[in-house]
Amino acid sequence: MILESCILILNLKNMQKNKTYQLNNKNGITVEFISYGARLKSVLLPDGDKKTDIILGYETTEEFETGDPYLNAICGRYANRIANSKFELNGKTYQLKANDGKNFLHGGDKGFHQKYWEVKPIELEGYESAFKLSAISEDGEENFPGNLKVDVIYALNYNNELLIDIKAATDKETVLNLTSHPYFNLNGKASDTIHNHDIKVNADHYTELNNENIPTGNIVPVEGLAMDLRSAKQFSEVVDSEYPEIKMREGFDHNWVLNKDSKEPEFAGSIELKEKNRAVEVYTTQPGLQVYTGMHFDGSSIGKENIAFNKYAGIALEAQNFADAMNHENFPNCRLKPDEEYHERIIYKFKY
Ligand code: BGC
Repeated sequence: MILESCILILNLKNMQKNKTYQLNNKNGITVEFISYGARLKSVLLPDGDKKTDIILGYETTEEFETGDPYLNAICGRYANRIANSKFELNGKTYQLKANDGKNFLHGGDKGFHQKYWEVKPIELEGYESAFKLSAISEDGEENFPGNLKVDVIYALNYNNELLIDIKAATDKETVLNLTSHPYFNLNGKASDTIHNHDIKVNADHYTELNNENIPTGNIVPVEGLAMDLRSAKQFSEVVDSEYPEIKMREGFDHNWVLNKDSKEPEFAGSIELKEKNRAVEVYTTQPGLQVYTGMHFDGSSIGKENIAFNKYAGIALEAQNFADAMNHENFPNCRLKPDEEYHERIIYKFKY
């Protein structure tokens, strides 16, 4: 009897592991996600009498497990980079295990992108379908202090907005930066690159990087630079820019300092494919928007419909705090104390 119950629980767990969850709205949008890494699997927009998928992805959970490491996941504890994989908190130095040269990227080997999140359907006022996803990073995991409990809500409403609501609480002071890392391709096919996408970012400044993609601490005005995306620029216009920061990376892999007036979600940026009349707008409470134009894709990972992810197959729009914020006094706070609640929102609004 006990053995049978154990097998039943294991089977249920496996079912949850491999399950694809769906959010639907009355306009015909479907957003799919999985428990592994809380990853978005598809974003299907109505397109005549069919639907077009505007996000990169794989067909099965196993492929997500072995595929591109951060694809469409919730990343953390600390999304983006930490210089020399090291920080100080209350006089103590925390040394993390480097996973990007000598630096630390996206929460390390055991980040939230690798956890199987517990998933529950919920009711959320103003939303047609909603789920709550929960995961814990234990005290000392990847050497971060404190048990960190994270709850994420994925919800879709009539206005074609996908809400990603992220809350976290800790039992010891810690540092964190949580983001969603979806790779969009508005062509609806990973084989067509994002060169034809217009990119807009609501920011007067960006955080300058050194040649290891670590912020120097300088906050640079975008005025007059190829980094000025306040009026949309098509990616094909800027990808070959001589501006050293772009030239060195052959694209964007930068954080913009968002123009913000409040702690409410505000317009952060957008991508648009004019010829197909499709766009994604991002609204957020977070202080930064990392725009990454997928330079690392090299054809070795094969996604949906058997299409390889080649260079520039997708564009990631990651609303987050700035990279390495704990090591720069002029960057926004990334510390969380036990009596505080971390609460950030990212909204992707789909237009078609
Ligand atoms: C980073 C890139 C990194 C990529 C990996 C992005 O958020 O900014 O440097 O290569 O994630 O998925």
